[in-house]
Amino acid sequence: MSDRTAPRPVLVQGDITEQRADAIVNAANSSLLGGGGVDGAIHRRGGPEILAACRKLRASHYGKGLATGRAVATTAGRLPAHHVIHTVGPRWSATEDRSELLASCYRESLRVADELGARTVAFPAISTGIYGWPLDDGARIAVETVRATRSTCVEEVRFVVFDESARAAFAAHLGEPG
Ligand code: AR6
Repeated sequence: MSDRTAPRPVLVQGDITEQRADAIVNAANSSLLGGGGVDGAIHRRGGPEILAACRKLRASHYGKGLATGRAVATTAGRLPAHHVIHTVGPRWSATEDRSELLASCYRESLRVADELGARTVAFPAISTGIYGWPLDDGARIAVETVRATRSTCVEEVRFVVFDESARAAFAAHLGEPG
């Protein structure tokens, strides 16, 4: 049986499209055909190769789109990363607890990363932008889920946050100085 260990969490403030990592995770939507936020930036900077790969996935395995909480990998095109792992976060709901779907995004992305043999994986704060998830709760779910994951290949999980408030939220849950 292979050794499975917990990846080391690292917090970075910056733009995820600039990360040199084996894989970066895209906060996509189920169409896989692009959008705003992280998704828009990845397609813009990564170039048309990523969209072409997404179109192929839609035509082959995901005719109805990628379900919320699932993850799938493509090329990273012109980005400094080797792969993009697209996952679909849940929209925030005040009436329904969708936390398990958000946790699934992190788990499934790490499962796909393991299959790719990725050692470093960069995550944005999934669902905390356009999908409206409260930052503190999104950070808590991200950190708890990654801490509970055991992986054969992934050694480092890099949380890449855009602004100071997101950095503070992740730092609090990671137990780092604010
Ligand atoms: N690098 C790092 N973090 C970023 C970047 C960046 N370049 N850009 C935004 N963020 P969002 P969601 C932060 O909206 O909430 C798209 O249209 C941002 O501040 O990208 O999962 C998709 O197609 C926020 O904290 O993703 C979907 O339709 C976090 O990344 C929908 O948006 C996530 O914000 C997905 O919404």
